Amino acid sequence: MFSEKDFISKPFSTTIENGSFQWSAPSNIALVKYWGKKENQIPANPSISFTLNHCKTITKLAFTKKQSDGNFSFDLLFEGKPKEDFKPKIQKFLERIEIYCPYLTAYNFTIDTENTFPHSSGIASSASGMAALSMNIMSLEKALNPNMTEDYFYQKASFLARLGSGSACRSVKGSVVVWGKHAEIEDSSDLFGVEFSSNIHTNFKNYQDTILLVDKGEKQVSSTVGHDLMHNHPFAEQRFAQAHQNLSIIKTVLETGNLDEFIKIVESEALTLHAMMMTSLPYFILMKPNTLEIINRIWSYRSKTKIPVCFTLDAGANVHVLYPENVREAVLQFIKDELVGFCQNGNYICDTIGTGAIKIL
Ligand code: PMV
Repeated sequence: MFSEKDFISKPFSTTIENGSFQWSAPSNIALVKYWGKKENQIPANPSISFTLNHCKTITKLAFTKKQSDGNFSFDLLFEGKPKEDFKPKIQKFLERIEIYCPYLTAYNFTIDTENTFPHSSGIASSASGMAALSMNIMSLEKALNPNMTEDYFYQKASFLARLGSGSACRSVKGSVVVWGKHAEIEDSSDLFGVEFSSNIHTNFKNYQDTILLVDKGEKQVSSTVGHDLMHNHPFAEQRFAQAHQNLSIIKTVLETGNLDEFIKIVESEALTLHAMMMTSLPYFILMKPNTLEIINRIWSYRSKTKIPVCFTLDAGANVHVLYPENVREAVLQFIKDELVGFCQNGNYICDTIGTGAIKIL
């Protein structure tokens, strides 16, 4: 059993004066949702997600040795230009992980980051962004400690990413990742994401996720506030128990390829997530009228054609349309004919299941 202490790095015998690394890390979409947390970003319930392929953050970390004065020193560039308003979040992240990576205060860093999806698309870049930065930090740690195992490298990367943004810990590996202790998932942990180790049915090979960008505006209520509202929530305990049950069911579904059951769990999870928002105090609604229009169109298309297409939602108004690769053409046509009109400026992004973070440099 892992504990937080296992991720505190020991002093190194190697020193490195300067260098740089570059990693890409993808976004992910949860099938069973994480909503509610305990202290230190420990999830109130386990979750499972598809890792995405095209929606990514690419981050380069350049470093030069400095006098270790206990302070962090970094410049933050977004698409090559200084981005001061991203700095406080990174500063907070570095402070949170300092105990696990004390070597970070011995360097000046330049963090140069960009996304493959538009910044103002309403797609959260925190999962891919925190995962990409964590991979780079682990590359530095591995350079300082070359004996590190591959397992430890990825587990600690996910552990660090989690401290930046909970769901980021599921963006390190692919193609299906579980985060949070669950009785039936071996090695599952509250501390980091683990790859779903069962054989995944071919029905889910290259599963498609078309993200319909319904609203690109800033969310009225942040995820942080939403998670907090699960404390003293009247339905919290039932919800956390339900997530455990849904994870048991979806585990079997991913193994057997039962798409009807998949649709039931995934859509129910999406609506339950939003039901939690609507029943917290204060209550709030992140869906927009067009979100509901799209959901209704998907339901009537599915009932008419029997094509196994379904939706899921993040903490926002955008709709993720999920479907198998073998119905891709038909569903894309349906999206163009019937759903694009409900997207802001007609924008949508075609993605598929991916394999996780990739080292570029
Ligand atoms: O990682 P956070 O704190 O932004 O939380 C995101 C939670 C959901 O996206 C709504 C669900 C999930 O499991 O990804």
